[in-house]
Amino acid sequence: MKHLAFFAILLAGTVLAHQPTTFSDDPTGTESGRLLLWVSVFAALSVVIVLGALFYGRRRARARGDSMDAVWIAVPVILVAVVGILGAQSLVQMFSAAGKPAFGVQVTAHRYWWDFDYGDVPVRLSNELVLPAGVTVELRFTSTDAFHALSVPEVGLKASAIPGQNTRTQVRFKKVGSYLGFCTEQCGLGAKQHRMRVLVVEPEAFERFLAAAATFKPPPPKTEELRSGIELFSRHCASCHTVRGSSAGGKAGPDLTLFGNRTTLGAASLPNTPANLRTWIRAAPDLKPDVRMPAFSELSDADLNALAAYLESLRLDDFDFANLPQP
Ligand code: HEC
Repeated sequence: MKHLAFFAILLAGTVLAHQPTTFSDDPTGTESGRLLLWVSVFAALSVVIVLGALFYGRRRARARGDSMDAVWIAVPVILVAVVGILGAQSLVQMFSAAGKPAFGVQVTAHRYWWDFDYGDVPVRLSNELVLPAGVTVELRFTSTDAFHALSVPEVGLKASAIPGQNTRTQVRFKKVGSYLGFCTEQCGLGAKQHRMRVLVVEPEAFERFLAAAATFKPPPPKTEELRSGIELFSRHCASCHTVRGSSAGGKAGPDLTLFGNRTTLGAASLPNTPANLRTWIRAAPDLKPDVRMPAFSELSDADLNALAAYLESLRLDDFDFANLPQP
């Protein structure tokens, strides 16, 4: 009978230790922090029960005159203690003041590009999210069409972007660099090229960038080519693209206000060079399946040059993100 009780306790401990943990999208987020707390409570309970059963068994074995090596108890106790201390350390870190987000960015996923709205300041960036190093930021995800999910493996970020929902997650990039992010949902035929970049800069450079971006105005056109670029843009492109400070206010495609500062184009599909830009404008559907931008095959080389010159002129000097290290 006593043996039965012993095995029952052991079994209960084992079952508790194997409580299925709810899947969490984001190992650094607040929600998963709470989850971790509960998992820890269950784990602590399991430890007490399992060790209790072990000690009980040992005492009984001794009473019977069997020898049961203390090492069998000491080794698991030490292992569990080490894991427990490490776990407690990360919990404290997660709930400490350093873990509170300094600001939030609304991330909207589209087939097949990403939009970033800084909310408090009038800055909207597309496809390349600029963030300060060492600062905790809250990302709020939603989608306008399909189910999407953003993954940036270097920082363990993985968050779902679902139409009609707002998924919150916290993230902190420790090191300056240009990080590749991509969609991990089968969101459509262009899913493979549904990418983005996170450009992580020093906090001081980030503050300067944000302030300059908030007050950015397209420079007055100095050449005939730039004037022609603006005219072509408002005729062919403004219905889908926004350039803040100009008459272009379309929302169906990426914000091109600071396009000249982008390191990539086509949602991080290609490096941002004038040649790639001309190819993209002329035949985006050849570069990305199911892309929601039409081809402009009727435009002449001069038109393409003018459009490319105009878009590359939309930039803040002093911010060369192309030099950021790629981890
Ligand atoms: C019907 C809407 C529509 C029109 C019109 C349109 N675009 Fe686009 N454009 C898009 C969409 C949608 C994307 C995102 C494509 C993707 O990466 O999946 C895009 C992407 C781009 C990009 C890449 C931006 C980035 O950060 O990756 C550039 C540059 C661009 N368009 C320029 C133009 C120019 C120049 C014109 C006019 C000649 C134009 N577009 C007309 C919808 C449009």
